[in-house]
Amino acid sequence: MPVKNRFAELLPEITAWRRDFHENPELLYEVHRTAGKVAELLRSFGVDEVTEGVGRTGVVGVIRGRSDSAGRVIGLRADMDALPIREITGAEYASKTPGVMHACGHDGHTAMLLGAAKYLAETRNFDGTAVVIFQPAEEGGGGGLAMVEDGLVSRWGIQEFYGMHNMPGYPTGSFAIREGAMMAAADQFDIVVTGKGGHAAKPHETIDTTLVSAQIIVALQSIVSRNIDPLKNAVVSVCVVETDSKAHNVIPQVVKLKGTARSLDPDVRDQLEEGIARVAENIAAAFGAKADVQYERGYPVTMNHPEQTGFAAEVARQVAGAVNLDMQPMMGGEDFSYMLNERPGAYIFVGNGDTAMVHHPAYDFDDNAIPAGSSWYAGMVEARMPVSA
Ligand code: NI
Repeated sequence: MPVKNRFAELLPEITAWRRDFHENPELLYEVHRTAGKVAELLRSFGVDEVTEGVGRTGVVGVIRGRSDSAGRVIGLRADMDALPIREITGAEYASKTPGVMHACGHDGHTAMLLGAAKYLAETRNFDGTAVVIFQPAEEGGGGGLAMVEDGLVSRWGIQEFYGMHNMPGYPTGSFAIREGAMMAAADQFDIVVTGKGGHAAKPHETIDTTLVSAQIIVALQSIVSRNIDPLKNAVVSVCVVETDSKAHNVIPQVVKLKGTARSLDPDVRDQLEEGIARVAENIAAAFGAKADVQYERGYPVTMNHPEQTGFAAEVARQVAGAVNLDMQPMMGGEDFSYMLNERPGAYIFVGNGDTAMVHHPAYDFDDNAIPAGSSWYAGMVEARMPVSA
């Protein structure tokens, strides 16, 4: 199963959809135009059922194979939302909405899955049911979770999930995957340090919250370097420091710290949550101040299941001639993880060539990746649910 010839024929059409999505990016759950166009296209392909409004603005399409001897159902997922970034690509199809941009290539994912849906509805060369899933709000809104909570698994009987993301820096149309943890758990924390504000020339009459906060920021790094097993992975980053002082000569009463904590395994995640609270509260106490710590768990670890990863890798190898099985896990978060927590499956990267990294204002999806990406989606359905001879 090399790149399917049909996708070479469909490339101009799929590219036109991709560029239309790119010109009209939408944020989080507000993907109304995109979802509407996805649903309209799915109906035009003769997809058997199209359901809108799943997980608020998600779209689900059902394509039945030419036979259904074993009741198998596979879910293929793409994301539809853009980012609040001002585009600087200068492309002819650049965003027409100021300050909003498809800087993560979700326009490409949606177009590639639409291409696969068109092909699968034409050919139906599989034994079972393919469910194509278009989700909103991947970029921080938990749209994958919203679709799961809206009954994605039970309403459509999905048994396995497969997802794909483009990746700059890998050759266009190549594939990379790994078994186990692929993307990190992405949590966030807020620390409010309260002391005693006052005149900066009379520090002995204050409890200096800026000094306390500085100690906390430094000590938080000891969690990764001293508490976590060095053979495991973790990130703690303090990204925001806010005080309620506006003056050079006022020691603030309150300092707020905000940051993110990333991990690839559940034990490390527990250690981060416990450690951040322990360090912040006790350091504050040592200075006579108080730290209130809120730790909010975000997207879970994206965990590729062994059998399904092997299968996804084999289909990728057939499409591209080779597959990179040695890639390192990434510390970014991905809410396809909620689907993989429900049913086994796998998440794969398709190379996007030599462009700026995702989330950069100069990022550009490479349309030449479309034949490989659409072939993989369609190939997963045909290979995982083969028609018996
Ligand atoms: Ni993305």
